[in-house]
Amino acid sequence: MDIMDFRSDTVTQPTDRMREAMAAAVVGDDVYGDDPTVNELQEYAAALTGMESSLYVCSGTMGNLVSVMSHCCRGEGVLLGVNSHMWRNEGGNMACVAGVMPFPLDDSSGLPSLESIKSSYMPSGNVHYANTTMLAMENTHNSAGGIPAEVGAFAEAADLAKDIGLLVHVDGARIFDAAEYFGVDVKEYSRRVDSIQICLSKGLGAPMGSIVCGSRSFIDRARKFRKLLGGGQRQAGVAAAAGLIALKEMRGRLSDDHSNASLLASLLSGLEEHGIDVEPARRRTNMVYFKIRRGIDAISLIDRCSERGLLISLAGPGRIRMVTHLGLDEGSVRCAVVIIGDILKYCEVINQ
Ligand SMILES: Cc1ncc(COP(=O)(O)O)c(C=O)c1O
Repeated sequence: MDIMDFRSDTVTQPTDRMREAMAAAVVGDDVYGDDPTVNELQEYAAALTGMESSLYVCSGTMGNLVSVMSHCCRGEGVLLGVNSHMWRNEGGNMACVAGVMPFPLDDSSGLPSLESIKSSYMPSGNVHYANTTMLAMENTHNSAGGIPAEVGAFAEAADLAKDIGLLVHVDGARIFDAAEYFGVDVKEYSRRVDSIQICLSKGLGAPMGSIVCGSRSFIDRARKFRKLLGGGQRQAGVAAAAGLIALKEMRGRLSDDHSNASLLASLLSGLEEHGIDVEPARRRTNMVYFKIRRGIDAISLIDRCSERGLLISLAGPGRIRMVTHLGLDEGSVRCAVVIIGDILKYCEVINQ
């Protein structure tokens, strides 16, 4: 049975070009800074984002954590979205490892509002406060529907944060989806912030790794924290070679994922009379969320789909997420919707 895996864009297989590059990679010991392929990837990423320097790390989670640790001291505060990956899905590492106090803000529309940034900020100079050091924003915003931040709104939030003295970090796991969606250079986002974390292992298709970009001194600190966390790798160029292909050759293909996700959303909307509600997205990149209104519970839908080779994921009570990526095409989308439709209609009949 062929498997169609819509659970996440992290499930992609490396392309043939990536596998060739990995096999041929010239490598060295990256903890000594001696791996030419890692160095090339880091230089390429810094140039692409217009930042002084960059660091290759094992994962997006590690990239976000070393950024927090490099920007903030223990006992300081970070403003971030209550639905953000950094708040909900990174094991509480900010509190547990970095000793930093997270202050969650409403981010249901993707970015935290200017008002919430202003009212949650706690200045230094008052002994009662965990004074706020940093604002973290997520772009695209995964759980808000994969929504990309408009450059203007993003700039307003970043500028406000800077005006009140905060450092700004972007969890840009899928920042190239945002840039591709609006047809803008990624620098439109990166030049406004102090650091950005970019995943190579999602829609860009590399098997692993993320890049953190920022100033030279920030990256020097991040390198130290990467080591402290056990993330110093030796001949990492084998994996970085695929990361280079991801950055050089795979950004342009993200628009295919966006059009496949739009098609998926519109075909799934045709099933709404059978008990689901597709979450509307003003700006759709590569994700579709829907809620189950009646007929079947979410776990049973996931199980029944998987029996037919369709993998989808649970994103909360009665909430399902489907993500498009390079392993899926228009045919997979159409086939997935037929399977979901069959199951919903069957449940309707047996529930009558
Ligand atoms: C928005 C966002 N940030 C960070 C991460 C973490 O990346 P990783 O799984 O490489 O740790 C993810 C992973 O899905 C994500 O969606």
